[in-house]
Amino acid sequence: MDSIRVIGGSRLEGTIPISGAKNAALPLMIASLLSAETLTLENVPQLADVVQLGRILGNHGVDLTIAGKRSGHRAVDGQTFRLTAHEIVDTLAPYEMVSRMRASFWVLGPLVARMGEAKVSLPGGCAIGTRPVDLHLEALRALGAEIELEGGYVLAKAPKGLQGGRITFPKVSVGATHNALMASALAKGESVIENAAREPEVGDVAECLVKMGAQIDGIGTSTLTIQGADELKGAVHTVLPDRIETGTYAMAVAATGGDVLLDNARADLLESPLDILRQAGVEITVTNSGIRVARNGAGLNPVNVETQPFPGFPTDLQAQLMALMSMAKGTSTIRETIFENRFMHVQELARLGAEIDLDGDLASVAGVEKLHGAQVMATDLRASVSLVIAGLAAEGETIINRVYHIDRGFERIEEKLGRCGARIERLSS
Ligand code: UD1
Repeated sequence: MDSIRVIGGSRLEGTIPISGAKNAALPLMIASLLSAETLTLENVPQLADVVQLGRILGNHGVDLTIAGKRSGHRAVDGQTFRLTAHEIVDTLAPYEMVSRMRASFWVLGPLVARMGEAKVSLPGGCAIGTRPVDLHLEALRALGAEIELEGGYVLAKAPKGLQGGRITFPKVSVGATHNALMASALAKGESVIENAAREPEVGDVAECLVKMGAQIDGIGTSTLTIQGADELKGAVHTVLPDRIETGTYAMAVAATGGDVLLDNARADLLESPLDILRQAGVEITVTNSGIRVARNGAGLNPVNVETQPFPGFPTDLQAQLMALMSMAKGTSTIRETIFENRFMHVQELARLGAEIDLDGDLASVAGVEKLHGAQVMATDLRASVSLVIAGLAAEGETIINRVYHIDRGFERIEEKLGRCGARIERLSS
């Protein structure tokens, strides 16, 4: 397993291109199951999760071709995927595949909507809590699917097709909203999803479904009204920029000091994190091409933050913010309200000298003058990258082991940071 070696202390200066969003690219790829025609996705990031999902979809019969480079095409422009599910050859998503990536569970809705049946393993994914799937199953039941659980598998059946229905989520779930939305797009008649997740990636999938011929009202709000179509057609769609990658690099710049343009970033996708960074004393300027982040000399103010569904502060930036606040002038509080076990980075940050006190879902982070390099272990996707941020600011050498988590969600991280002056390299085992 590869490691990443970071020598801390360099300021970051330059430009970091922001890739397409992983959390939009994955459900968009899955949406290809809904149509016999070709779905073309532009700006797909180069990530391990994307490759893995391509394999899983291939198993169901999706042909995936990756377009070659055109003249003027830069690596930062992302990949162009053409996905065609001319025929669904298998409605089984086996344990070996789904257990490696939680989002692949979202094939359930599209498969049962198009084929009238699906058998999908219960998921795995990052170990950041129990992460049940009850909301997904209730949503499909509301659309008329019969659901049984058997030997670790979900069996969903709707031999006459799904029927439009009313889905009222008791809790906001990104994945359950994706599943419900994609299934509703092929259900007969009208469906209403109440308390839908408003994450921009949900909106991106909805926009793509509209291009494919679905009629959806309320995109970007918590009530989505969908008129199902008998068939969906092909479409061309560009994946929106990754707001979590944007926020992560913004925090890396804030941690090290420096001045970086996050090229192609969209400020409207992360107003809450940018606001928190401003409160911390970081200079944020929205430009025509992206977001400029700078911190020159001034120290960091502590902040009080609670993770919330969009438009609140994202749980996917909680670990990174904690790394940053471990160097602030005072004590910050960070409450995690989305996942109950998302503090695995705390003990690793402590190895670098961070002073963090945990009490249930609340972390109190007492800023220290300096972090010191150490050997640490990546535990989940976002936690891993918080260790990179801490390592970049720490004195001396930090080795982050088990970095495969980072490759699942961050494209060419050593290259992007290295070009801005970070001393970072990958050590292959
Ligand atoms: C997605 C994101 C992940 C992000 C999370 C929250 C992708 C690929 N992943 O994950 O990066 O951290 O949203 O923004 O987009 N829950 C239930 N029952 C369910 C489903 C969820 O109780 O059936 C709970 C979860 O345990 C959690 C909360 O709802 O406490 C939110 O989870 P959810 O929004 O579903 O997360 P994911 O879609 O898995």
